[in-house]
Amino acid sequence: MIGRAVEGFLRWLLSALSHRRFIGRLAVRLPFTRPMVARFVAGESLEAALPAIGRLHDAGFRTTVDILGESVTHEDAARAAATSYVDALHLLAEHHLDLNVSLKLSQMGLALGPQLARQNVARVLAAAAELGAFVRIDMEDHPTTDATIDLWRQLRPVMAGQGDVGLVIQAALRRSEADVEALIAEGARIRLCKGAYREPASVAYPDKADVDAAYLRLSERLLLEGRLPAIATHDDRMIDHAIAVAREHGITADRFEFQMLYGVRRDLQDRLLAEGWTVRIYVPSGREWYPYFMRRLAERPANITFLVRSVLRERRGA
Ligand code: FDA
Repeated sequence: MIGRAVEGFLRWLLSALSHRRFIGRLAVRLPFTRPMVARFVAGESLEAALPAIGRLHDAGFRTTVDILGESVTHEDAARAAATSYVDALHLLAEHHLDLNVSLKLSQMGLALGPQLARQNVARVLAAAAELGAFVRIDMEDHPTTDATIDLWRQLRPVMAGQGDVGLVIQAALRRSEADVEALIAEGARIRLCKGAYREPASVAYPDKADVDAAYLRLSERLLLEGRLPAIATHDDRMIDHAIAVAREHGITADRFEFQMLYGVRRDLQDRLLAEGWTVRIYVPSGREWYPYFMRRLAERPANITFLVRSVLRERRGA
């Protein structure tokens, strides 16, 4: 059992390490990282992840595909990321899999200028509109919140007619209450999550209890007034509350969905599906797994024990 203070320190450390690019470059080259990463990342390419996505479909889950990558610093890399999403949509269509992807604006070149990110996302949305696909813009750290919401507003017309584009709100941010009300009024499709980034207390609640309380309030607003909201969490308390609200107000399983990350709380994923709820699994693939993986460790430092065990198992097997 890890003490609270140690756990807090580990969360801070893992989150800080997630931004260290040179460690990331090293980590992806080390062979022993593969079995650890496989729990959270379905494959080193979308092609490699297709069997896992197929198995989820066969079991009755929906999926959204994330081609890993973020904080891109070269225009070419940002354009290549957009191309990989266009290719991913075509590959999913070819395999008759869910036409649903999640992307990050920092991967599309936001740090190099909103214009570049807009062009790149517009290209992905044009392909998505053609195929009738859904594109979710993930939410990153707070300096990008305004740019993300602005870009969603500007690009939404690209999807007019076919497909749709949605965005993500983080319960941890103090501004989210106002954002949710504005976005509900605009008919936005919102995924609600707690927030995976280390943020200053000036913009985010430092106490988990306050984040959880905000999550309960916002999820209720979205269930009652939102358009096809996604309740993205692995927290039993948040999920039980959403189910209670849905039951009380006769909100059926086709009017919202639960979303969970690939490899996290598979027991809960199965249980919700068996109870008849709509459950979508967020499936990451690609070689740029380092920051994503480190955020998963920071969310639950006890995962480190699991990782050490998986490496030892591998070694014994070798
Ligand atoms: P919480 O962290 O309180 O965890 C509740 C329980 O879930 C834990 O006690 C544990 O049992 C289990 N759990 C949670 N994380 C785990 C892990 N990594 N490994 C093992 N068990 C774990 N964030 C963001 O900032 N922008 C975004 O766009 C998204 N997108 C997104 C999509 C989807 C589908 C999900 C599910 C989550 C996100 N997130 C996100 C991440 C989110 O903000 C948050 O960091 C994680 O979901 C963890 O928070 P929980 O709500 O699960 O609660």
